[in-house]
Amino acid sequence: MTQPIPAYEVVSAEGVNLHLADGRVLIDGMASWWCAIHGYNHPVLNSAAQQQLEKMSHVMFGGITHQPAVELCEKLVALTPKGLDKVFLADSGSVSVEVAIKMAFQYWISQGQTHKNKLLALRGGYHGDTFAAMSVCDPVNGMHHLFEQVMPAHLFAPIPQIAFDQPWDNRDIAEFKSIIEANHQQLAAVILEPIVQGTGGMRFYSPNYLKQVRELCDQYNVLLIADEIATGFGRTGKLFACEWAQIAPDIMCLGKALTGGYMTLAATLCSDRVSRGICEGEAGCFMHGPTFMGNPLACAVANASIDLLLSQDWAAEVKRLENQLRVELEPFAQLPAVADIRALGAIGVIEMQEPVNVAEIQKKFVDQGVWVRPFGKLVYVMPPYITSQSELTRLFRGIYHVLSEDTD
Ligand SMILES: Cc1ncc(COP(=O)(O)O)c(C=O)c1O
Repeated sequence: MTQPIPAYEVVSAEGVNLHLADGRVLIDGMASWWCAIHGYNHPVLNSAAQQQLEKMSHVMFGGITHQPAVELCEKLVALTPKGLDKVFLADSGSVSVEVAIKMAFQYWISQGQTHKNKLLALRGGYHGDTFAAMSVCDPVNGMHHLFEQVMPAHLFAPIPQIAFDQPWDNRDIAEFKSIIEANHQQLAAVILEPIVQGTGGMRFYSPNYLKQVRELCDQYNVLLIADEIATGFGRTGKLFACEWAQIAPDIMCLGKALTGGYMTLAATLCSDRVSRGICEGEAGCFMHGPTFMGNPLACAVANASIDLLLSQDWAAEVKRLENQLRVELEPFAQLPAVADIRALGAIGVIEMQEPVNVAEIQKKFVDQGVWVRPFGKLVYVMPPYITSQSELTRLFRGIYHVLSEDTD
């Protein structure tokens, strides 16, 4: 970077606290890009990593298999919506999206339908920064103009307008419907973030939209890819956001909270139809094989993180956070610089009228003892699920102090 904004050195972290090198302690509202659902330095996850480290940190996943990966894949198949029966372990969220898109394309190539080579995505979406993922991010804020010479062009439907808890109106899906009707012969898949459009705007949309997308994909023989990288593992109040619409996608991407934020690991699940369809083709198998596929250390921690989540009444904890988020957000609605407040599950959003100056506001947040990383007009929190009532209150007291001062 030629003009970097200040960065703060963290020397350790425990629970919901980040300890800075200068001795200050910050309450973390971001869960490290939404991953650290159990907080930091958790004894159960530490122990899982240490135990696995004593056995092996890594072995190749070609011609070799191991218990941590087998156990993880079995868990994911059991937990995710019915019909997702095969798992591909990938290195990061973006890679799992690459894998999902490649699965969809290879499926149609194997079926001899090579004309099905386009994707339909939603404006306002975000799926990662690698090339295929970037090509289905929002075309305006997703860097498309910068890379248009070298990036594949896909189709986009408008941002869903009807919010999560608003009454449904079929007009919200009308344009999506026209696009799929007109283009299904060349469409391999629809890709979307179910219920929550995250990085593209922190919008919560109606489950009816998702339900109708599933129906239209079935009607027009187009695969549905659900990117649950941000929403998976309880963040929206359901274990997977697809459950709000009671649908199962053909392909699903998981990442972020998969290892409780301990290390990078992602998974792409698909239906038996997709996996068999791929393997019937000339290649005979899915053509992808990363070096660190199924890393045992990451799988062992993921297994421990999932077990830890399921061992508690996580849904009640997320509901507790949602209820408190609604209360804590209320006073922000009175600030003239605030355009909207909203909460769903363990996600709380303050949408400002104007984009914030990240460097300036970041320093003010740190001075208040909170870690919040806004982008564009959005000041939001996705705290660890273990955040206590008083910690959440302190987090919002810090945010309020900064935003009310800024708008005086
Ligand atoms: C919905 C969604 N998909 C994909 C990604 C990319 O994941 P990663 O940053 O692990 O590559 C993200 C990251 O924020 C995301 O929110």
